[in-house]
Amino acid sequence: MLTWDDEVKTSSQNFPQSGPHDGHLRQPHLQPAQADASPAAAPRTAAAAPKSRRVNAVDKRIINGQTDVNQLVPFKYKWAWEKYLATCANHWMPQEINMTRDIALWKDPNGLTEDERRIVRRNLGFFVTADSLAANNIVLGTYRHITAPECRQFLLRQAFEEAIHTHAYQYIVESLGLDEGEIFNAYNEVASIRDKDQFLIPFIDAIMDPGFQTGTPEADQTLLKSLIVFACLMEGLFFYVGFTQILALGRQNKMVGAAEQYQYILRDESMHCNFGIDLINQLKLENPHLWTSEFKDEITALFHQAVELEYRYAEDTMPRGVLGMNASMFKGYLRYIANRRATQIGLEALFPNEENPFPWMSEMIDLKKERNFFETRVIEYQTGGALSWD
Ligand SMILES: [Fe+2]
Ligand SMILES: [Fe+2]
Repeated sequence: MLTWDDEVKTSSQNFPQSGPHDGHLRQPHLQPAQADASPAAAPRTAAAAPKSRRVNAVDKRIINGQTDVNQLVPFKYKWAWEKYLATCANHWMPQEINMTRDIALWKDPNGLTEDERRIVRRNLGFFVTADSLAANNIVLGTYRHITAPECRQFLLRQAFEEAIHTHAYQYIVESLGLDEGEIFNAYNEVASIRDKDQFLIPFIDAIMDPGFQTGTPEADQTLLKSLIVFACLMEGLFFYVGFTQILALGRQNKMVGAAEQYQYILRDESMHCNFGIDLINQLKLENPHLWTSEFKDEITALFHQAVELEYRYAEDTMPRGVLGMNASMFKGYLRYIANRRATQIGLEALFPNEENPFPWMSEMIDLKKERNFFETRVIEYQTGGALSWD
C-alpha cells in the first residue's frame, strides 16, 4: 500500500546517476517529409519503424527516442511497468459503492448544514470537469510526445482511470439528484473553480496543438513544464482541498459513499502523481540541459501561483469553519504539499518548515482495498468469465 513515505521514495529511486547515451538526445525532430526520406530515423509509428531492427533497451528515451514505440519489451523503464501493474491491481468501479446512506442524508432537511452542502456542491463542481481535462491532456497531448512504451502503457491505464473518476463524480451527482447544469457548468460559472482551470488550460493547449513537436530545447521545456504543472500542481495540489473536505465529512460518518469513492480516487491520483514525478525526473536525467536556472525560476513561480489559487478555492468553499477545519488551516496544508512536490522534482522547498495539519490524510492514502470492497460492494460487474461467442 502507498504511503506518504513511499511517495518520497518513488521520486528519488530507480534512477541511475547518468544516462548511458545522452549524447544521442539532441536530434532535431523530423518533419513528415524528412521522416519519409529517412525511415530509419522515424520512430513514432509501426509503419515508419524498420521491421528488421530489434529494440535495444539502452537506446530507449522518454522523449525524442528513435526506437520503435510499439515494442514494449525489452524493458528499460521498469518503474513505469511496475506502476502500470499496481494501478491494474487497484481496479475499481463507481457502481460498486453503496450510495443509499448518502441519498438519505442529502434528502433529510436536517441531515447536513448549509456549509456542508456547499462543500459537496463546490467539490463536484470542480471535479466533474477536472478529470475530463486530465484525460484530454493525456490522450490528446502527453501520450504522443512520450517515446518510452512502458510509460505509454501507464498513460493508457491512467486515461481510463480518469474516465472512471469522471464516472464516479457523475454517479454521485445522479445519486443525490443534483442540478446537472449547475454542477457541470461550475468551471465556467464559479470564479474559484474557473481560475484554477484557466491556470491549467494553457499548459494543456500547448502540447495538444497539432503543430507542437518536441526536439528543440524550447519545445522540450514546454513539454516538461506541462508535465510538471499537470503532475505536481493539478493532480498533486489542486485536488487536495477537495479530497480533504470530502474525506473529513466521511470521518464524521457523513456522505460515506461519496467519501469512499474519493478514497479510491485519491489512491489513483496519488499513483498518477508519483508516476508523473518519476517521468519528470527521468526526462530531466536524460536531458539535463533543459533544467536551467531560468526554467527553475519559472516553475517556482508557477508553484506559488497554484498555492494561491488553491487557497482561494479553500476560502470560497469554506467561508466559515466547518467539520473542525477552516480555510487558514489549508494555507499550511497547501504549503506543506507544495514543499513535497517541489523537492520531489529537485527544487528547493518553497515554504520551509511547514507542518502537515491533517496527518490523518496520510492514512487515507494507505487504503486497504479488500476490506472496503467486500463490506460495501453492491453489484458485480462483468469480467472475462461472462463472455459468450453466440
Ligand atoms: Fe482523476
Ligand atoms: Fe489523475
